[in-house]
Amino acid sequence: MTDIFNNFYKGKKVLVTGHTGFKGSWLCIWLHELGAEVVGIGLAPYSERDNFVLSGIGKKMKADIRADIRDGEKMKAIFAQYQPEIVFHLAAQPLVRLSYECPVETYETNVMGTIHVMEAIRATDSVRVGVMITTDKCYDNKEQLRGYKEDDPFGGYDPYSSSKGACEVAIQSWRRSFFNPDDYGKKHHVSLASVRAGNVIGGGDWAKDRIIPDCIRALEAGKPIDIRSPKAVRPWEHVLEPLSGYMLLAQKMWEQPTGYCEGWNFGPEPDAVSTVWEVATKLVQSFGHGELKDVSDPNALHEANLLMLDINKAKSRLGWKPRLNAMQTIDLVADWYKKYRTEDVYQLCVNQIQQFLCP
Ligand SMILES: NC(=O)c1ccc[n+]([C@@H]2O[C@H](COP(=O)([O-])OP(=O)(O)OC[C@H]3O[C@@H](n4cnc5c(N)ncnc54)[C@H](O)[C@@H]3O)[C@@H](O)[C@H]2O)c1
Repeated sequence: MTDIFNNFYKGKKVLVTGHTGFKGSWLCIWLHELGAEVVGIGLAPYSERDNFVLSGIGKKMKADIRADIRDGEKMKAIFAQYQPEIVFHLAAQPLVRLSYECPVETYETNVMGTIHVMEAIRATDSVRVGVMITTDKCYDNKEQLRGYKEDDPFGGYDPYSSSKGACEVAIQSWRRSFFNPDDYGKKHHVSLASVRAGNVIGGGDWAKDRIIPDCIRALEAGKPIDIRSPKAVRPWEHVLEPLSGYMLLAQKMWEQPTGYCEGWNFGPEPDAVSTVWEVATKLVQSFGHGELKDVSDPNALHEANLLMLDINKAKSRLGWKPRLNAMQTIDLVADWYKKYRTEDVYQLCVNQIQQFLCP
């Protein structure tokens, strides 16, 4: 496979939390292909059709561990056993609507879980780089027309968004208090950053109340696709876009530990920012069949209508930029769902990574 990281990950000990989930499974496949020794911490996958299960990545990794990030001592014990050098923290309760049903669990997992991972990093001498995954929803959303910049205030209306805003505050505090760049090489040797992606889409996601899984479930059942928030505008991007940003950032942090330990946005180009209805329409086009139904409810739970990220910082300082345009993104997503029943899913993912790198 093309290696845009110039052999950097070969032989590196990388720990990924949330490896059984949608983004985590793709990250582990990519890292494994680049020759990293990957250890994963997560809960059991949600279904037999998850990318993690179908790809069989768990069996190829150095260790595939079921553990709860709410258990701080357990996190320290796992870190002590495997001595990771680079940590990508993705484990979370990531759904807005579920966070209204389970606000306490959402905060326990997202905020205290993140703190436990940072404490495990602090307790483990081998760790050099920590990339903490939050979300575009961590910003105080004023439904403004310009994209959010990295130094905009954190906030969040619903429990999920605000829990991620709270994670950002905690990450900033841990960086100032324990991983301060001014003390690097004297009191510690950890570079800690946080990363915010947009609405990530890709093969193998079956989460409830996310537009692509909702579309696929309806298409497979031969039913019309119910669209709850047709006019909501989101920064859609293929899962491999932010993952390429996280991996590039970790490499830069390793090479220059005090130069990049801060917050970073990895969203799409402004022209890929579109409505839920437009994305579903493109998916139907790419599939070749299907019909959309507007089921918007004026009394629905609050969800943001307008959300965009400013990605100029990642472009200018990391040399990162999105690789796919809107239609290439949807075609790649549709391709996975067209093939997952009949093809070797691990190889399908590897082929998609290669296609992403050389579209
Ligand atoms: N998918 C998106 O559109 C999107 C956008 C921006 C940010 N994010 C963030 O990216 C990360 C990954 O999201 P995803 O879409 O892959 O979610 P996902 O639900 O598919 O995966 C979540 C992972 O976290 C693990 N997890 C959940 N609770 C845990 C706990 N208590 N202990 C240990 N592991 C636990 C799950 O087992 C799973 O492996 C999350 O932090 C999410 O907030 C996602």
